[in-house]
Amino acid sequence: MKKTRQSTIKLNDGVEIPYLGLGTWQARGKECVQAVQFALNHGYSMIDTAQGYHNERQVGEGWKASGHNREDIFITTKIDNSNQGYKSTQRSLEKSLKDLQTEYADLTLIHWPDIRDFSRSVETWQALIDLKEKGLTRSIGVSNFTIHLLNDLLSEINVMPSVNQVEFHTFLYQKELLEYCREKNIQIEAYSPIARAKFFDNETIQSVAGKHEKTPAQVMLAWCVNHDLVVIPKSTNQGRIQENADIFFELDDEDMQALDQVGPETRLVNGAWAPPTW
Ligand SMILES: NC(=O)c1ccc[n+]([C@@H]2O[C@H](COP(=O)([O-])OP(=O)(O)OC[C@H]3O[C@@H](n4cnc5c(N)ncnc54)[C@H](OP(=O)(O)O)[C@@H]3O)[C@@H](O)[C@H]2O)c1
Repeated sequence: MKKTRQSTIKLNDGVEIPYLGLGTWQARGKECVQAVQFALNHGYSMIDTAQGYHNERQVGEGWKASGHNREDIFITTKIDNSNQGYKSTQRSLEKSLKDLQTEYADLTLIHWPDIRDFSRSVETWQALIDLKEKGLTRSIGVSNFTIHLLNDLLSEINVMPSVNQVEFHTFLYQKELLEYCREKNIQIEAYSPIARAKFFDNETIQSVAGKHEKTPAQVMLAWCVNHDLVVIPKSTNQGRIQENADIFFELDDEDMQALDQVGPETRLVNGAWAPPTW
């Protein structure tokens, strides 16, 4: 079935998540408020934030200013590593909700696995399970988890995350992780889905863009959507926010095959919290 901006995917807990959301990493102050308000009034219904982005207050102001009813939008936040652990997860989500001006999050993620002391991430996961039970978040998931770490988590607590938010774009086609997550019914959410606009001059991207009269960003996002991934491109520029929403067009098999093989493989996010092997 043809996907549209209104299309959603049903997660393993029955919650419907939109294909398209606005990323907000590095969106600050008034610019963040305006971007969130603008996006929600121009085809987006989901916003991705995190405690670590220090902009939950601005995201809250932005969605309020948009005039939308709370139940018509989808807000994701993430538990910062400094807040991992049972009690601090609970306390920190309560603060996030206050800042976001909402009584519940739609999706709450463990931002990064704690690879130095994984028991903290296990405790965080238990806290999220309990917070979902209490209605403070409708759905729960993880971010930056490898197959190995997902197996570790599930061997401690056998409650499946609904989402794994990871870096995923044409230059980082994580096929094995995608297949594993499909098998477990964990939805992949693609972050940095346009690879931070670094490779728009790639020949294949340019050629598919030319063929469909679309921009490189739109082709990279359409590739994700055609692979049934949720995408959360970040922009605070009104023109680019609109451009990044015009991505619901079909890529044919030839386009997809060419894009699947675009290289070289490049990982952009590999910071201090990253697992030793991805
Ligand atoms: N879970 C995690 O650990 C994690 C890690 C990284 C990111 N994320 C989430 O994923 C979101 C997206 O990832 P990202 O911000 O790393 O990268 P991205 O969305 O791939 O790229 C964003 C960058 O590209 C520019 N841009 C956006 N649209 C454009 C377009 N159509 N043409 C040209 N340039 C464009 C933006 O600048 P302008 O704003 O000036 O347009 C910004 O510099 C983040 O904002 C965050 O919400 C999560």
